[in-house]
Amino acid sequence: MAKKPAQATWGGRFSLPPAELMLRFSESVSFDARLAQFDILGSKAHAAMLARTGLLTRRERDAIHRGLEVIAREIAAGKFKWRARFEDVHMNIEQALTRRVPAAAKLHTARSRNDQIATDIQLYLKAACADLIQRLTAAQRAILGVAEKNRDVLIPGYTHLQRAQPVFLAHHLGAYLEMLERDAERFAAVHDHANWCPLGSGALAGTTLPIDREFTAQQLGFVDAAGRPRVTQNSMDAVSDRDVHLEFAAACAFTGVHLSRIAEDLILWASQEFKFLHLPDAFCTGSSLMPQKRNPDALELIRGKSARLQGNLHTLLTLVKGLPLTYNRDLQEDKPPVFDSHDQTALCLEVLAGTCAGLRLDRARCAQAVADPALLATDLADYLVRRGVPFRVAHHAVGAAVRLAEQRRVPLNRLTLAEVRRIHAAFGRDWATSFDLQRAMARRTGTGMPGPAQVRRQLARWRKRLG
Ligand code: ARG
Repeated sequence: MAKKPAQATWGGRFSLPPAELMLRFSESVSFDARLAQFDILGSKAHAAMLARTGLLTRRERDAIHRGLEVIAREIAAGKFKWRARFEDVHMNIEQALTRRVPAAAKLHTARSRNDQIATDIQLYLKAACADLIQRLTAAQRAILGVAEKNRDVLIPGYTHLQRAQPVFLAHHLGAYLEMLERDAERFAAVHDHANWCPLGSGALAGTTLPIDREFTAQQLGFVDAAGRPRVTQNSMDAVSDRDVHLEFAAACAFTGVHLSRIAEDLILWASQEFKFLHLPDAFCTGSSLMPQKRNPDALELIRGKSARLQGNLHTLLTLVKGLPLTYNRDLQEDKPPVFDSHDQTALCLEVLAGTCAGLRLDRARCAQAVADPALLATDLADYLVRRGVPFRVAHHAVGAAVRLAEQRRVPLNRLTLAEVRRIHAAFGRDWATSFDLQRAMARRTGTGMPGPAQVRRQLARWRKRLG
């Protein structure tokens, strides 16, 4: 019988244990302990499969299952003692189990930590995607709430951050509902890509022992819509592929970009310069020096954290790029960015929802901002078009009218009929009706446009979709 190994799981061929520095350097349990529940699910399914193919007896399987359940409860209660000297979540659990259940020495039969971690992460990412889809829906609901409460509020829409054309606030916010909906679709796609079971791939080349991969996959819920098991088709790909990590981080980065943009709009709108709305106290902070300040820190942090989400994606892309097949220890570094992207995206969504729930519109300021008749200069050009003037000519004529109004320091609609007729003869007595804001909005009837009927239809569609 060999002497007690220097390291419990892989120490057989070593004469000395790893340096203390090496242990500190190489441990991952400080972050991958987060995968414990998935690791235990994987081990239970694996033990069930081993019993099915005769590699474990039913008694051994049951003892392993009971032991894993006890450990799961200890972990959930915060009573489990994680040890850096066992490196990672897998060996911590296996060591604790083996100390209590002798049969657990057979648990790692036909399994490697390489297919084990790949399986853990697939399970984790499926749950993470489901979590973020829910949070996206909650954030969408909060945005929709603001839109519905203020469905009649008009504001200027902007291009180049210059006032362009009037839109309903609900239409502007609807743009963000669309973006977050696409984000949810992206997470659904990542969920689908994570829905393949790598277990049974071994370290890289499978196993010589009789296993039933389909059974394990089914146990773990890696199944298609018809309930058929989905197992990975190439063992070398299965243990070295990190595409789903990348896709998940990319979906988080996309969401971050969208959240950053809405944060930026809200920051602008809450500024003294715009004053379209008032942010809730609960999500603002003051200045330690300037007593009058009220800063939109929550929204600024959303904007800032979106940079971090992009950074995580970049870290993962760089991590994987030069690696030869198959597993390399570099891949242990794949987890912190993934976890961080999940956590920060979840937080940002929650904070945005909280901020939206407490928003108060300054309707008077919005009305004032949208009252400038110049915002309807394009409508005036359309008026000329309806009277047979080619658009290019109409554009030019209205441009000349805008210039004249500026020279005369009057609003565009205050030019006299004689003045505009001198610019173009097609202007009629009714030329100024173009500046009736409600009428102008009602003309925008096409799908996707900000007319009142369209906006109403969109709000109803979102309400039905989001509940
Ligand atoms: N902690 C490792 C990781 O996260 C698990 C896989 C270890 N595999 C190995 N061959 N050392 O990547």
